[in-house]
Amino acid sequence: MKKVIVTGGAGFIGSHTVVELAAAGYAPVIVDDLRNSEERALTGLAALLGRAPVVHRVDCGDEQAMREVLEAEGEVHGVIHFAADKAVGESVAHPTKYYRNNIGSLAVLLELMRQRGIRSMVFSSSCTVYGEPKELPVDETAPDRNAASPYGFTKVACEQLLRDEVSASPMLKAVLLRYFNPIGAHPSGLIGELPRGVPNNLVPYVSQAAAGLRDRLIIHGADYDTADGTCVRDYIHVVDLAKAHVTALDWMGQRPAPLCEAFNLGTGRGNSVLEVVRTFEAVNGVPVPHAIGPRRAGDVESVFADTRRSAEVLGWRARLTLADALRDAWNWQRRLG
Ligand code: UD1
Repeated sequence: MKKVIVTGGAGFIGSHTVVELAAAGYAPVIVDDLRNSEERALTGLAALLGRAPVVHRVDCGDEQAMREVLEAEGEVHGVIHFAADKAVGESVAHPTKYYRNNIGSLAVLLELMRQRGIRSMVFSSSCTVYGEPKELPVDETAPDRNAASPYGFTKVACEQLLRDEVSASPMLKAVLLRYFNPIGAHPSGLIGELPRGVPNNLVPYVSQAAAGLRDRLIIHGADYDTADGTCVRDYIHVVDLAKAHVTALDWMGQRPAPLCEAFNLGTGRGNSVLEVVRTFEAVNGVPVPHAIGPRRAGDVESVFADTRRSAEVLGWRARLTLADALRDAWNWQRRLG
């Protein structure tokens, strides 16, 4: 079985990808120091996999520790690099932390991959690289240096680092996956998102408001130039997103190096914040207390993906709906209590 290093494999998208990798016959090896995830993710993974996942509890940005992990694991087919800081607001307050962690860890991994002859990387990028797109849906040829936050610029910088490294290393292959808004949870209810403290992202907040853990959701602005005045995003089920990583690895495996390609991962549909709230209420039969508040600094008005390239070139498309994702998010929240 081909071993795949999954940095951040105990996190939200990482844990779902570990499940899909195992189902596809890869051998996932998690590298995660659990700084932003919990033991519970590993217990859930063990239940889903039918065995304890392979986990190295180290910081993937620690070169010596990471070297030891790779030495211990022997032959490795590729690396999926999820581990990163991702809170937009925190990145504005602590930009150095973001540049150091997000770019530093990728640099360590690329250095070690070069030394050990590991040739494939799938990188977690984001639609944040497009900023506020001029045309919608946004395709991969749109200007991609328009991030609106230090977090976003770390993704722009990491994408550029990968392009430069591929130019310099004719044996290297990289796929840059630009996620739109990943939501939901595994339908089993065994793994899902585990936000620490007050959630920054919409769907965890909606779930907690429905569960009575928060007074009410504050909708960040209803005066945007959209159908109902609230912001529009492309919400994609985390299981669909996880499967795209397996597709990307398979696809890279059939192509010669050097290779560096970016793909949008979204559904191609845009939904407003109010549509998310109403769909959540309708599919789950629970009210989501909410109120309109002021705009959130740095928010983009509307962004949703042109998914043609990922469908035509990668052969991947999202199958699950917004309703599926919100049902699974609620199922997970109820188990969390
Ligand atoms: C942002 C980033 C994205 C990143 C993600 C990780 C941009 C453009 N997007 O996504 O790249 O991967 O954070 O954290 O930088 N909302 C409310 N009330 C809330 C929370 C959110 O109304 O309590 C609204 C927001 O204003 C937004 C929508 O819900 O319109 C989605 O917000 P969120 O889930 O935070 O994701 P993004 O900001 O789109």
